[in-house]
Order: sequence, then C-alpha cells, then structure tokens
Amino acid sequence: MAHKIHAAITGVHGWVPEDRLTNKDLEKMVDTNDEWIVSRTGIRERRILKTPGWATSDMCVEAVRGLLEKTGTKPGEIDLLIVATVTPDMVFPDTANTVCDKIGAKNAFGYDISAACSGFLFTLATAAQFIQNETYNKVVVVGADMMSSIIDYTDRNTCVIFGDGAAAVLLEPRRDGNGIIDFVLRGDGAGRELLHMKAGGSLHPATMETVMAREHYAWQDGKRVFVQAVKGMTSTCEEVLRRNKMTTDDVNWVVPHQANMRIITSVAEHLHFPLEKVMINIDKYGNTTAATLPLCLWDYESKLKKGDNIVLTAFGGGFTWGALYLKWAY
Ligand code: COA
Repeated sequence: MAHKIHAAITGVHGWVPEDRLTNKDLEKMVDTNDEWIVSRTGIRERRILKTPGWATSDMCVEAVRGLLEKTGTKPGEIDLLIVATVTPDMVFPDTANTVCDKIGAKNAFGYDISAACSGFLFTLATAAQFIQNETYNKVVVVGADMMSSIIDYTDRNTCVIFGDGAAAVLLEPRRDGNGIIDFVLRGDGAGRELLHMKAGGSLHPATMETVMAREHYAWQDGKRVFVQAVKGMTSTCEEVLRRNKMTTDDVNWVVPHQANMRIITSVAEHLHFPLEKVMINIDKYGNTTAATLPLCLWDYESKLKKGDNIVLTAFGGGFTWGALYLKWAY
C-alpha cells in the first residue's frame, strides 16, 4: 500500500562537554548532598561547557558534524536547520544561522525556536511540516542548551538540576509508513510566573540592578512546576495514544523530557508504562533543556528497530508541553 509522505528521523547524533559536575562537587558549592540529589532528582552528574570561547552554537556544530558524517550528508545538501534553545549565543542573531555558517551549510537557512524544555518537541513538529508538504528534503533539527550560562551556582534549588549538551536529528521524507505520525502540543502562558529568567529581555533589560538582584538566572517554583509537568506529559501522551487508537502495549519506547527522575517515574506509572520501555539518562546529564529528548534517542539508538512505535513527551517553561508519536525509520 502506498503511504503518504511522513517526515522521518533518518539519523541522530549528540555531543556533551567532557567536564563533569558531580554531586560531590556541588556539595562543596551549596548546602546539599549526594543522597538528597539522587533521591529527589535521580541526577548523579551533569556536563558543563568550559572550553574558552565556546557557546551553544559550538555544541550544535559538534552534534551536527557527527550527524552529517553518520548519515553521509554534505553540508550543502541541508535545506533548513532549526535550533531549539533558550540559551542562544546572543539575543540576536539566532544561533541556527551561526551554526549554518560554521558548518558551511551554504544552501540552508535557519532560525531558532524558543520553547524551553519542550523546544525539541515543538521544533520537530514544525520541521516535519516542511517535509510533509514536500517543500524541503533535508531538515536538521538541533536541541541544544548551555544551561550553565544561566544557572546561579549559589541557588541549590536550580544548580543541582541543569547541565549542558546538544543533539541533532536529520529529517527526510519517507513513504513506507515510518516517520512522524501525530502530535499534541499545548501551552499556557500563565506558567511564566513559575519558571522564567526575569531579566535580559525587553521587559527588564540588563542594568546594574538586575545583575545585582541575580535576575539573569533561571528561576523556578520547583514544586508547582513538578505537578504541572506530570499532569501535562501524562495527558498529552494519553491523547496522542487515543487519537491513534493505541494502548501502552503498542508503544515500544517512551522518551520523556529528563527534568526529574520522580517526574519520569510518575508519568510512567500514570500511563502504566514499564520503566524498561522508558528512555532514561538523567543520571548522566541532568536536565539539558532542549537537548534531553535527542540525547535520549542518541543514547538508545542501537536498541531501536525500524517500525518501533515511539512517543516523545516534554514539559517546560512557558508553560509548554506535548507528546509526539513517530515510527522509527531505520
Ligand atoms: N539540596 C538539599 N536540599 C534542598 C535542595 C538541594 N539541592 N533543594 C531544595 N532543598 C530543600 C528545600 O529547601 C526544602 O527545604 P525546607 O523544607 O526546609 O524548605 C526541601 O529540600 C524540599 O524542597 P522542595 O522544593 O519541596 O523539594 P522537591 O522535592 O520539590 O524537589 C525539585 C525540588 C526542584 C528537585 C523538584 O521540585 C523538581 O524537580 N521540580 C520540577 C523541576 C522541573 O521540571 N523544572 C524544569 C522544567 S522542565
């Protein structure tokens, strides 16, 4: 049977910095301890970008170069490159154009999407439209964040959670029924009160006062975000399954945003997904914001089989959240 065109992930590659920030290291920086961090978050260490002069675009470049090599794609073949990030190199221009320049993607255009921890999910859904509509053939989607550039390492509520990393996927058209099938994306701007970086935008441009008040760092009401994250990821996963007449038994893998191990377990319990079917790497990288989902796909790539039913789900600043169902294409 001839299938309609789906945008399929045809390769994935990730990159994380060498430097590790362990729970033991954090014990020396703030009033915390390994036992608290592991039991409350599941995180053991995170990667921190320390290379002088490097920023988010450089992590993207490493991930994309690896992706192109793996998939046998030349930089000039890329039509479009989108970077999901909340830690762009600069407020403007966008990081995607910088990445295109650095990798020599002369025929591509690029732009960034800012949807915090849902960034990769929103960007994947956006990029898929260009493929499904037959506008472009090769679209690269990168999830990348250098969270260490906006984390207050004197605030134990946030500094134990976040890390740096990047990962990229190549999207190409497939007619064999594999690829991105459906998604449910949601938002609620009222959530901006509970998770944000207060200053540095047009509302509160940088001043001596904003710097002194530590307003250029990520801030969250962790407990309230936690509750909404469980609700949001669970309900959108349920909706995407229902719409596609699937049950949890039909799903081979769930790829949840890696914000807190207890959020992941809670979502899995609500959905009756056994944890063996849930991709987890939060212990190694912490919350890398837009990079968590593609870093999971990269880590688990060797276990995936063509035709596997995979549900990606995320929740983040905005609030933004959602779930996306795809069939693995290779
Ligand atoms: N080490 C030790 N104690 C800590 C701590 C740390 N790193 N961070 C917080 N605590 C303390 C708190 O101060 C509090 O102490 P108190 O009772 O004396 O006031 C106690 O531990 C409990 O704090 P609470 O905030 O209720 O903890 P929690 O169980 O909710 O865990 C988070 C905190 C941040 C780990 C958790 O709320 C979370 O993961 N939230 C969602 C995060 C998220 O998804 N964010 C990004 C969006 S994608």
